[in-house]
Amino acid sequence: MNLFSEMSWEQVKEYLARDDRVILPLGSTEQHGRHLGLGTDSIEAEAIARGAGEATGVIVAPTLNYGMALTLMAFPGTLSLRPPTLIAVLEDIFRSLYRHGFRRVLVVNGHGGNTASLASAVQMVTQDLAGWRVKSFEWWTDAESYRVVVEMLGAQTGSHAAPGETALMLAVCPRAVKLDRLTRSARDAPDVPSREMTTVQNFAQQYPDGIKGRDPRGATREAGEALLRKSVEICAREIAEWS
Ligand code: NI
Repeated sequence: MNLFSEMSWEQVKEYLARDDRVILPLGSTEQHGRHLGLGTDSIEAEAIARGAGEATGVIVAPTLNYGMALTLMAFPGTLSLRPPTLIAVLEDIFRSLYRHGFRRVLVVNGHGGNTASLASAVQMVTQDLAGWRVKSFEWWTDAESYRVVVEMLGAQTGSHAAPGETALMLAVCPRAVKLDRLTRSARDAPDVPSREMTTVQNFAQQYPDGIKGRDPRGATREAGEALLRKSVEICAREIAEWS
């Protein structure tokens, strides 16, 4: 597999002579209920990105392990960038890649709080970087991958720290899953559509366990493996068909 972190500058130069595509995993360090590690979004994004890199031979850039998680700051361990910081970091990464000759990036995003900043960064850099192209993939907003968890685990499986995300972690990093910690407090906390925007205050009030969705104990490793396979397949296809 082609990992930036293990390649020399000369190998990157050789790669750029034949390809201008790169995969960037975008994660977060934030609470994921009482049962999942703080790095869940980074670990999941990296697993999907590496799978796609392996399937296509495209380089995988280092995972950005910090994201925009201000809404989760009521929970210890959450480390957030402010939106302008994340926009600036993404802009700087994009400009660095562009400078060396990369022209197409597939961002595998692991956290919904990053989506707005990613979109902003893309609009900012494309004002002056001619030919800079970005695709993004999120397993919970992509209809094709989301269908896999809904079919295997039922509705309300795609929200934060809920069965879908827990299943994916059972597949890619089971040692970060602590389902035995849910014996006392787990309950269904459906993601009820509301016009009120989520904030650091109302998230913790509405979801005191930090879980948004059904009781994660419905998660299975099989569902996580199926979700991983489908996500890798979609990303590899997007890369292969990118002309
Ligand atoms: Ni997550």
